[in-house]
Amino acid sequence: MMNRITMPEALKRTSPHPVSLICAQTSAGATNLAAVSWWTYLENDPPMIGFSLWKESYTCELVAGSGKAVLSIPGEVLADITLKCGNVSGRDVDKVKEFGIDLVDAPVKFPAHSRLAFACTLENKVEVGDCVFFICKVDDIFFNGDERQLFAWDGSGDVAPLKNYIKSRRSIRHYDPAKPVGRAELDQLLEAAMYAPSACNSRPWEFIAVTKREILDDIARTHPFAGMCATAAAAIIVVAIPQEGRPEGYFPQDCGAATQNILLQAASMGLGTCWCGVYPRDERIAHIRELFNIPQPKIPFNVIAIGFPDEAPGARGGFEAEKVSYVE
Ligand SMILES: Cc1cc2nc3c(=O)[nH]c(=O)nc-3n(C[C@H](O)[C@H](O)[C@H](O)COP(=O)(O)O)c2cc1C
Repeated sequence: MMNRITMPEALKRTSPHPVSLICAQTSAGATNLAAVSWWTYLENDPPMIGFSLWKESYTCELVAGSGKAVLSIPGEVLADITLKCGNVSGRDVDKVKEFGIDLVDAPVKFPAHSRLAFACTLENKVEVGDCVFFICKVDDIFFNGDERQLFAWDGSGDVAPLKNYIKSRRSIRHYDPAKPVGRAELDQLLEAAMYAPSACNSRPWEFIAVTKREILDDIARTHPFAGMCATAAAAIIVVAIPQEGRPEGYFPQDCGAATQNILLQAASMGLGTCWCGVYPRDERIAHIRELFNIPQPKIPFNVIAIGFPDEAPGARGGFEAEKVSYVE
């Protein structure tokens, strides 16, 4: 079903997308940077890009005045700095000095840890509400493939590399029952699952994506540790297909890797999850097998509850040096 949504919601639904830093020069030759998600490619020949800046921002004034800018796609190491550059104005703070940003020496300087940098010249600008849309010709494009991509998640307001979600992910046991999880979200989770490695690329898995309330409630009632399905908007059942012959016996590792991909993909989309074990408990396997009519030799492996979190448990876990031996 198609639902009417607002522009910020649409932005959220099309996240993640690459976030940029618009770099511009002050009349004194200093560099200012603003985080900007509203940028787009416009034309290949001549190469053109566009970006939209809030009228009151210092960067808007600088680009309009100098006619020059660099649109930098920051590398992952600049995640925190990018957020900071999006939360203070260069009118109040010298961001380069304050945040310790290393710059490349160029006519308009840009961060050394940029993955891409588009050096551009202003061709035109159009007022759009409280913003100005700058239309620029691209003079040069620089690329450093060693820098990992950084994205604006959750609309334009959050910037995160994957490692943030590895560290902050927690099992969520209370979900917002008013927020549905649709097929588009579920397909993103399933795609992430299917990118997991598996023994000899045997891909010994299938998935059942559930949003039917009665079924979620049944799982909540019957699985001893899946009570959270009562508020979850969806669940994914990972179904293992035990390998015959080479690489026999690896399906638990393969399905575990696929499950972890789902949890991390979900975290990056603002979704909460809880991994509820089914295999190797016979009674849970039997119940889920019956509920979904899963034929032998397939094995219901787990139930992953999914929904928008209604709780925010703090991060836990961490590096335990005593659990590591180094053989060097
Ligand atoms: C992730 C992120 C994305 C942003 N995207 C935009 C944007 O597309 N356009 C915009 O005008 N401001 C955007 N902002 C806000 C500006 O970066 C912010 O107003 C900044 O403080 C302006 O700095 P300045 O006054 O030094 O130019 C974004 C902020 C963040 C954190």
